[in-house]
Amino acid sequence: MDINTLKTQIELEILQVNSPEELEVFRAKYLGRKGALAELTSIIPQLPIEQRAGLGQQVNMLKSQLQALITDRQKVFSGGATKVTSSTICDLGMPGIAQELGRLHPITQVIEEINTVFVNMGFVVADGPEVETEFNNFTGLNIPLNHPSRDAFDTFYLKDYPKMLLRSHTSPVQVRAMKSRKPPLAVIVPGRVYRPDAVDASHLFMFHQIEGFMVDTNVTFSGLKGILETFAKKVFGEEIKMRFRPHFFPFTEPSAEVEISCIICKGKGCSVCGRKGWLEILGAGMIHPNVFKQVGYDSKKYSGFAFGMGIERIAMLKYGINDIRLFFENDLRFLKQF
Ligand code: DAH
Repeated sequence: MDINTLKTQIELEILQVNSPEELEVFRAKYLGRKGALAELTSIIPQLPIEQRAGLGQQVNMLKSQLQALITDRQKVFSGGATKVTSSTICDLGMPGIAQELGRLHPITQVIEEINTVFVNMGFVVADGPEVETEFNNFTGLNIPLNHPSRDAFDTFYLKDYPKMLLRSHTSPVQVRAMKSRKPPLAVIVPGRVYRPDAVDASHLFMFHQIEGFMVDTNVTFSGLKGILETFAKKVFGEEIKMRFRPHFFPFTEPSAEVEISCIICKGKGCSVCGRKGWLEILGAGMIHPNVFKQVGYDSKKYSGFAFGMGIERIAMLKYGINDIRLFFENDLRFLKQF
């Protein structure tokens, strides 16, 4: 066998050597008294004089390479392998590299939790576009032309499309869903909304809301109370209390601001609830007849309720977070806690 073929064979074969016993067999096969190298050496005297020195050198070189390979392999078996050589290309004894597990963002987790509560009560989950028409965001919801929220300082309008905007709430999906379906309807809509607010600990230019609404022939305000109380107890705990305070929204009449007893002080009054003992968590009411008119529903035949809440606020209350910016800074020290 020619010396280069022998060398290749040795390099491949040592990779298959998996125990000290196999290594000894390997050593004897090549370096033993009757081994391959001894055999090569024995033919040197028969060669023409001018070839003897060359082959002699080559055999000696191969011998020392072979010895180095055997020593390296021995170290692998005794646990002392330090440097990677051709004989330690694959060290099956090395510990693996642990993969970090990803997880859902806390806001996504809260959305999924709230979705589940409402889906269990028979609601379906819908969504709508973040770029909305002015009609769906305002007009269809009975928000008059002179309402301050329509101002360019309070809503992001699209520069080249004056009738388009980034939705400022998830309520426009009421208009979309009612126009495309017939009652009975029970829908919730989680999603992003946008407002040009200056950023501080409780404001961002983008946040999340969940809108909910139900329309049928006999939907009542007490039904709304029951649904919202079930939701609040499932998310914040069975012991919380809930109260409705009169409020105004253009798309609901009557409208209410819904509060729960402070989950921090249990209603006694603390810095989180501003000493009031109550926390505002959402807006709600009975869908205004003008909204039904805009979507072509007969308000004599149908009634409905609607509600809307900010997810970041719910998550902040639930987990005791005091700065909304933490959600979106992508700081793993924060995110890994959920
Ligand atoms: N869209 C309102 C907002 O962004 C929240 C809201 C209040 C939604 C009352 C409703 C509702 O459906 O009935 O502030």
